[in-house]
Amino acid sequence: MCGIVGYVGARAAQPLLMEGLRRLEYRGYDSAGIAVAEGGRLSVAKRKGKVRELDAALPAAGFSGAVGIAHTRWATHGEPSDANAHPHLDATGRIGVVHNGIIENAAALKQRLAAEGVTFASETDTEVLAHLIARRPEPSLVEAVRAVLAEVKGAYGLAVIDAARPGALVAARNGGPVVVGVGEGEGFIASDAAALMGHARSIAHLDDGELAEVRADGFTVFTLEGTQTVKALSELSGDALALEKGDYAHFMRKEIDEQPAAVRRTLLGRFDRRFATAHLGGIEMAAREMLDIRRVKILGCGSACHAGMVGAHLIEQLARIPAHAEPASEFRYRNPVIEPDTLYVAVSQSGETFDTLAAIQEVKRKGGRVLGIVNAVGSTIARECGRGVYLHAGAEVAVVSTKTFTSTCTAFALLALQLGRVRDLSAAAGARLVAGLDALPDQIAGIIAREAELAALSARLAGAEHAYFLGRAASFPIAVEGALKLKEVSYLHAEAYAASELKHGPLALISPDTPTVMLLPDDDLLAKNLSTVAEVRTRGGPVLAVTQPGVSLEGVEAAFAVPACEPELAPLLLNIPLQLIAYQVAQGLGRDIDQPRNLAKSVTVE
Ligand code: G6P
Repeated sequence: MCGIVGYVGARAAQPLLMEGLRRLEYRGYDSAGIAVAEGGRLSVAKRKGKVRELDAALPAAGFSGAVGIAHTRWATHGEPSDANAHPHLDATGRIGVVHNGIIENAAALKQRLAAEGVTFASETDTEVLAHLIARRPEPSLVEAVRAVLAEVKGAYGLAVIDAARPGALVAARNGGPVVVGVGEGEGFIASDAAALMGHARSIAHLDDGELAEVRADGFTVFTLEGTQTVKALSELSGDALALEKGDYAHFMRKEIDEQPAAVRRTLLGRFDRRFATAHLGGIEMAAREMLDIRRVKILGCGSACHAGMVGAHLIEQLARIPAHAEPASEFRYRNPVIEPDTLYVAVSQSGETFDTLAAIQEVKRKGGRVLGIVNAVGSTIARECGRGVYLHAGAEVAVVSTKTFTSTCTAFALLALQLGRVRDLSAAAGARLVAGLDALPDQIAGIIAREAELAALSARLAGAEHAYFLGRAASFPIAVEGALKLKEVSYLHAEAYAASELKHGPLALISPDTPTVMLLPDDDLLAKNLSTVAEVRTRGGPVLAVTQPGVSLEGVEAAFAVPACEPELAPLLLNIPLQLIAYQVAQGLGRDIDQPRNLAKSVTVE
């Protein structure tokens, strides 16, 4: 979280920095700011609110300097305000710093600076860095930053500018993602390569404990100890247009529509049809190693964890290996038992979620083996895992996850199929699943095309203060994800329960004012699910069903049927209407759909 951009070159920095900020706004949007070096000083603008508020605060003529840094913030220390917005400057206004992360010893450093007569303009932890850097005697900015970081504890992604030495910016990383980029006589810094698309030709990811001097003619990377390191450059490919909304009102709706194509890309080249199985080359696992797996443990946060819950069901059903998903944020704090015959699978869209990264590091530290299921190529989690499955779902910009949830479930179906076919899953069952997966993209497109049929369900939810989402067994993770989606974008209270647990407590809250969204796939648990519908109806609770053709819908107030499919894959289809419902409800309530209050994508802090 927090977006960072830096530019040094020959063009005016401001338009490039502002474009970068708009692309990074998903990382935080409570305040934003920019500092450009011109005429030996820093010209600065900062504003509470979104990047468009900062836009409005810029001088009409704009800043003309060709070196600058900018930031969009998700507050940790100090409430969102003009003063707490980054960049933060030293007392003379020469050094500017933008920061993503937390400086843990900021209080002690602040006390020391205060004793030396420094007064602070903000409540942030970041400001101490600007004062400390300005007080260093080293001849170059990179040396001064290195000296300061030696006494800093905490997590950071940083960009630093010095108006008196505008030939180079400095970037540093310890726990917060930072890439440096190279263009035609231009140098760049960003917390996410998306900010640089269309401008930088190639990029390098800094590793923890590295800092870089970024100049118009290239960059040099050092460790915090001062040793120069050689970084591999990768070409920055990708379509800058994919980062635009186009004709859509919201990225969330655009990304819902992109799901058929995203799933096709997740599947592309990953079937071995001759053996009715999947072939995931990136997991780098021979059949023998797969046979030795006794347990699968899936780790992720938010929607990534919910997709992991879907994955656990698939692996258990198809491969008959005990599998379980758990929030990575909880796992890492409970001194987990790591077993040598357990396969750990880390799931992350951004590949930068701090809690997930820390969980992986804990598993690795104890000798466990981890695979990654990641969307962002070259991201920290992908690199930390070393092997795994890329989703190839394309950039996801809306804070809430839609297409990457579906692509992650698809990747798990492939993994489960491959593990299953090494074990007891028959060729006939394998062929049935391959055909089922092949059909998914068109089926998803068909559901999205019928969006209008969901209006009655959405209207019923929009008028309620609370809602239940119920699903049994493999549908339960979809109930959890559906409730999360509604909460995130509409701010309505939605709670998910396993349908079988209803009578063990939550039934007490069922009333005519509390609608229940019931997942009713046409599977062998249908009779049980219909009993749950009857239990809710008997207490006067309205039932909205997401179901499949041919299911009896007695007593159901409104329903939507997804196509018939292979039973194991039904969760992937049942989820699509729930995304659309969340979107419709939020739109009806006039919510800020792409940037819901208090949330951010890519949560790089604890
Ligand atoms: C944040 C987002 C969620 C997301 C989760 C995990 O909490 O708001 O939408 O599911 O992070 O993100 P990741 O990038 O690791 O999948």
